[in-house]
Amino acid sequence: MRTLRTQVGIVGAGPAGLMLGHLLHRAGIDSVILENRSREHVIERVRAGVLEQGTVDLMTDVGVGGRLQREGMVHRGIYLAFAGERHHIDMAGLTDGRAITIYGQNEVVKDLIEARLATGRPLHFEVDSVRLSDLTSSRPRLRFHHANAAQELECDFIAGCDGSHGVCRPSIPSSTLRSYERIYPFGWLGILAKAPPSSDELVYSRHDRGFALFSMRSHEVTRLYLQCRPDEPLTEWPDERIWTELRERLGTADGWQPIEGPILQKGVTGMRSFVAEPLRYNRMFLAGDAAHIVPPTGAKGLNLAMADVCFLASVLDTFFKTGDESGLERYSAYALARAWRAQRFSWWMTSMLHLSDTDSDFDRRRQLAELEYVVSSPAAMTSLAENYVGFPFAGA
Ligand code: FAD
Ligand code: PHB
Repeated sequence: MRTLRTQVGIVGAGPAGLMLGHLLHRAGIDSVILENRSREHVIERVRAGVLEQGTVDLMTDVGVGGRLQREGMVHRGIYLAFAGERHHIDMAGLTDGRAITIYGQNEVVKDLIEARLATGRPLHFEVDSVRLSDLTSSRPRLRFHHANAAQELECDFIAGCDGSHGVCRPSIPSSTLRSYERIYPFGWLGILAKAPPSSDELVYSRHDRGFALFSMRSHEVTRLYLQCRPDEPLTEWPDERIWTELRERLGTADGWQPIEGPILQKGVTGMRSFVAEPLRYNRMFLAGDAAHIVPPTGAKGLNLAMADVCFLASVLDTFFKTGDESGLERYSAYALARAWRAQRFSWWMTSMLHLSDTDSDFDRRRQLAELEYVVSSPAAMTSLAENYVGFPFAGA
């Protein structure tokens, strides 16, 4: 078996792993990134689309924001729709000009992969059977198969950026790890459609038939979601049914509805809230979806992943330069505080906008009262706006 050495072994080439590798490279710290899927799969995976100001600033400051600046769509507000009407929330006006940018997660990943390849530092795709060992020693190891050969990587640190179904979190002894979870009784059916957006901003709609969301990827492609069962088979959703349901749930009394077009892609995602703690085990750190999952209604998952690795890279840098471990000791508490704030917000948005079979008439009426309050009280609107645009990143 070939044994290699690196300062930071990174498992996972999603936004968290790739951004961490990039930040470490800029600090002169070497890393090896191991990804079990193919490069094409990672780039083509359609997921998040909303970047907080902090994510946009981070990408720009570290030299990977060129295409984002040219192609990203800056949105200064969102719409909340219910009872047949759309209400505008002026997020920038309520948060000293902070905005969100629409730019697909797959575009973020594409830009980060390009930046990584330009550095010449290792990024291995289609790596098999990643296993962690020696986690209680000062040289934890990653064993894996790549290009038909068994390999071993001796690391100063391991970063578990391998998403919700990865191998890093389960490598922590269960007696050390506590997890908190909520599974929602619904999912989202998401589509990409070749159709120009008919609204300049996102529309989150609470409807008696269930939640729907109007989003976009460009001036030619829209992204739309419908609340459905978490295990809903796609065969139950021919294109015509999807458009009928979207017209019904999103259309408002002023005649607004999404423009229709060929459906390019569809998929169903279940929804859950999850937090593991602590996010450090000796010399291994968990970041991004490996550490926490939020339901997508608050558009926080990708942004939390970026905030985690921004802080982690800065404390690793301090450690390698000075030997000072105090930053490493603060990582878990910092990332958990941010994650719980996002959990609360994402849970709140989800429960305000989705219908559940167990809701009573009282619950439904209360949900409408909540929405009425949010769109009429500047204090409530500001609370939504400041959470949605996101809080500044530490370590940036
Ligand atoms: P991931 O992107 O999951 O990356 C982990 C990587 O690790 C993957 O490439 C995986 O293949 C790899 N991996 C896994 N196991 C192994 C292994 N054993 N060995 C090697 N590699 C491994 N977030 C937002 O902020 N805004 C949104 O608008 C938004 N919308 C969403 C919509 C949908 C439909 C979904 C599903 C998610 C959405 N999210 C959103 C969440 C967001 O996509 C995730 O939070 C984000 O991908 C987290 O990044 P990550 O790098 O931590 O994990
Ligand atoms: C998306 O565009 O994919 C998107 C937008 C807002 C969300 C979730 C996903 O809350």
